Formats: sequence, C-alpha cells, structure tokens
Amino acid sequence: MELNSLKDIAEAMVTPGKGILAADESTPTCAKRFESINVESTTESRNAYRDMLFTAMGIEEYISGVILFDETLRQSTVDGDLPFPEHLSALGILPGIKVDMGAKILANSPDEKITEGLDGLRDRLIEYYKMGARFAKWRAVITIGEHIPTHYCIATNAQALARYAALCQEQGIVPIVEPEILMDGTHTIEESYDLTIETLHTVFYELASQGVQLDGMVLKPNMVLSGYDCETQASVEQVASMTVDCFMNTVPAAVPGIAFLSGGQSEELATAHLNAMNQMDRKPWNLTFSYGRALQTPALIAWGGSADNVPAAQEAFLKRAKLNSLATLGRFSEDME
Ligand code: 13P
Repeated sequence: MELNSLKDIAEAMVTPGKGILAADESTPTCAKRFESINVESTTESRNAYRDMLFTAMGIEEYISGVILFDETLRQSTVDGDLPFPEHLSALGILPGIKVDMGAKILANSPDEKITEGLDGLRDRLIEYYKMGARFAKWRAVITIGEHIPTHYCIATNAQALARYAALCQEQGIVPIVEPEILMDGTHTIEESYDLTIETLHTVFYELASQGVQLDGMVLKPNMVLSGYDCETQASVEQVASMTVDCFMNTVPAAVPGIAFLSGGQSEELATAHLNAMNQMDRKPWNLTFSYGRALQTPALIAWGGSADNVPAAQEAFLKRAKLNSLATLGRFSEDME
C-alpha cells in the first residue's frame, strides 16, 4: 500500500486499533537500558534486540509505525539480512526516524533544556526519505521545578519544533511533534494541566506561524499526570478527563491523532489511562500510543541479551502491543493483564 500524501500517512499512523512503537533510543540511552539487564551495548546486541521486536509474529496487527534511531535505520534483520525499513514496509508498518540531536542545556537558563538538530536537517531528511522513512520525531523537554519552566524555554523549544515540522513536511515526511513535560517531581496534576495548556498553546501558535499543515502531523504529548513524587496521585478517571479536557482546549481538530508517550508510567497505567480516554466521547482526534518503555520493558527483561529468550521476549512485547491496541478502541479491561 503506497501512501502518498502527508495526510494519508498521518492518518495511517493513528488508525484506530494501532499505535507507534518508539524504538529510537539513542546509543547512550540504549546503553542505559541494557545496563539494567547486564547486557553490553554493542552494534550487534542493539541489532539483535531491535530484530527481536520487529520480527515478532503479528506485530503489524497492533503497530502502525516504528520510530528508529539512525543506526537502526541502517541495520538489517538477523535472519535474511533485510534492511529494517524494508522489513517493516513489507509488513505494512511505516518506518520513522528520530531526527533531533538531543536536549542540551539552554543558554541563560541552565536548569532547562533546548533540543538541537536543525542545522543540516533538510539534507538528512532527504537521505532518510530515500532510505524509506515516512515520518520523523523531534522531542522537546520541559522540566517542572522551582521557578521553571520559563516561558523562554517553552517558546524557544516550540519555535524549534515548528521549524523541524515545516522542514519535514517540505520533504514529504510526517512530523511527530513531541513537547514532553517531564512528570518527575512533586507537582500536582493541576500544575501539570496548566503547564501542558501553556506549552500546547505556544506550540500550535508556532506551528501556525510557520505554515505547518495540521492534518499532516501527529502530536506526541505527555498525559496530564500528578508528578511522580506528588503525595496525592490522581485516579485513572481523573487523568483521562483532565488530559482530554486539556487537549480539547488546545489541539485543533484538524490534527488527525495524538500518540502519547509513556514517560516513565508503569506499563499497566499507561494502558489503563489510554483506555479510559478512549471510553470518553466528544473527541475530534484519534488517541493512541507512541510508547517506548511501556511497550518494551517486559520484553527487554525477558530477552536478557540471549537468543534463547527471543520467543519469550516477543510474547511479552506482543502482549503489551495487543493490550494497548485494545486501549485505542476503549476495549481493554484490567482482567486482561
Ligand atoms: P517513553 O514512552 O518511554 O516515554 O518513550 C517515548 C519516546 O519516544 C520519548 O521520546
């Protein structure tokens, strides 16, 4: 199936029943994940791990697209030596690529971050398109703390997100626009709500100012949650209703879909929150997942770096993929865990 327009691709990414696998951990992040299971991170071990995920039988029933890291886009299946983008495309899964160069210290506000990677981006996008990538990801990071975030940080990151999105669309690539408000800290869910509103207002102002086509992009935001160290943790229902309310007030209806990041929530909560949102009515966009940790952690642990464990790891991965797929339809229930 050849998807030609940005709108077709964006709609396919967020089609009900499917979501996105974020497998674009940079080499240092991958090393951190592997360290947790006592596996050395090498080109070969990273290839073997990604192969385990991408060759899980039936993955295409639940996964519409996979975000890859530059190294992975250039790697191939272990059996068959098929480049990963070709392997995924053959399954009807869209290959995507992380194009930002990471979050660095923001000048004049050293406790905050600005995402880098705009220089030379057009040329990189041209190469990635030729290699099969049909969508991209850029992550901006907003931290909540004493006196932060500043509006300066939010506005500077929003401007960079829009510059990235405009360049992607120019090259026929759908941008995933990811402003992530970190949920580390003691802040309340109300603070998370207010800051997510301010951030999304600023991001959509910049997207409009720079002519970004809203029906040819996907938003990847945080859910509105209590800070992980906040004494009172909001219920699943409260998270769902405040998150949807937040987007109703900020995200234009032309955006085809919102694909959440999991951001350090447990696998179970990430699924339950998504499901609760999809049981609510009155939503103009599809709500799905673009999870990294919440899809991969049980599989990573089951894999443990050994080829012998691949079947068990794939089973663990497919279980999360299936439950999250059901959550995009509001058809998940806790007894399925
Ligand atoms: P998590 O779901 O682990 O937050 O990762 C998603 C992602 O792609 C962050 O950029």
